[in-house]
Amino acid sequence: MIHVKKSLDIALLILFFIGLASNFMSATAHEAAGIIFVVGVVAHNVINRNFYRNFLRGKFTRRRIINHATIILFAVGVVTLAVTGAALADFVPASAEINWRSLHLTAAILSTVALFVHILIHASRYVHGKIFYASAMVTFVFAVAAIFGLPYVDRWFHTVKVNRTEILRGERLEVDGKILIVYFGRVGNTNFPAQVDAVSGASLMLDGTELVGNTQMIAELVQSVTGGEIFALRTEKIYPADYSQTVQVAKHEFESGELPALKTLPNVADFDKIVLIYPLWWHTLPKPVENFLRSCDLSGKKIYPIVTHGGGGLGESIDALKTLTRAEVCTPLDIYSSDIPSARKNIFAWLKGLEILP
Ligand SMILES: Cc1cc2nc3c(=O)[nH]c(=O)nc-3n(C[C@H](O)[C@H](O)[C@H](O)COP(=O)(O)O)c2cc1C
Repeated sequence: MIHVKKSLDIALLILFFIGLASNFMSATAHEAAGIIFVVGVVAHNVINRNFYRNFLRGKFTRRRIINHATIILFAVGVVTLAVTGAALADFVPASAEINWRSLHLTAAILSTVALFVHILIHASRYVHGKIFYASAMVTFVFAVAAIFGLPYVDRWFHTVKVNRTEILRGERLEVDGKILIVYFGRVGNTNFPAQVDAVSGASLMLDGTELVGNTQMIAELVQSVTGGEIFALRTEKIYPADYSQTVQVAKHEFESGELPALKTLPNVADFDKIVLIYPLWWHTLPKPVENFLRSCDLSGKKIYPIVTHGGGGLGESIDALKTLTRAEVCTPLDIYSSDIPSARKNIFAWLKGLEILP
């Protein structure tokens, strides 16, 4: 029996790491690893059920309290992972109001930390002195790497393959058609090399071999929900293909106050509702979007802002937007860059809630 227990524990540990490496595998492989892991955890608990019989009995030493706490924390983490995973994989109907992805990520971090502390506590029975401190150090490094590394890996190295036909499919809202969808993004304002994989990352998605920008995808999603006309803001200048260099160029724009010239402006006079989609740049509105707002008279119109970002939410962009326009700024929607392919139902619910209907 002891061998079965040990083998299962080692298999579970390996599976847990496979699950953590979700950015390097297909969604199906990640879901399969998740399901097997949850089944394995249930089996682990059935085999170790005696532990629960004595859960509250006996003396509570400091070590025992920490051990119990990490087990409870891990259990909460795994249950959250299972529920949010099922929602993300569309195994169960899930509310569009909840950000399942960030909950899933938070649960992954929580479980990783709990698991390492759990292992450390058990290791302290067998290893002492310097070796124990060394392993504690390694544990700490792993835990910190999990906390900061997971979102980082998720944000910057996740090449997203999308299928527009599937993503854009869904329920329509009946609107009067006088909706203008204005967006700004890197794609369309950058000369990306043909070998886009060499530079792909957070801001890029591939539909077959075609590059699709985050904000562009959102614009197409809004159009698939509302109809409406899409207008892409194009700057005279070309932004660098390299992500970090673009960040530096944008920094310079903010520092110098430069307003990058736009090739053309949309004919806003024909519309009274404008869905404005932009990426969060340095916690606020990109300068080309500021230029659009300064160049067009939007008084009397309604702006519905959608902000795509890498974790910063709306940042300070809505305050900036309000100071730059006379239009009425409606309740905004922020979308985490990795959530874009599955954002249609959120966009639908948000627009419906805002009564964008005629
Ligand atoms: C110049 C620049 C600055 C950025 N600054 C932030 C930021 O402050 N906070 C954040 O969460 N994301 C930031 N991001 C990430 C983008 O908001 C995010 O990747 C967005 O979805 C990009 O959309 P796009 O591909 O359509 O340009 C920045 C990206 C760039 C290129």
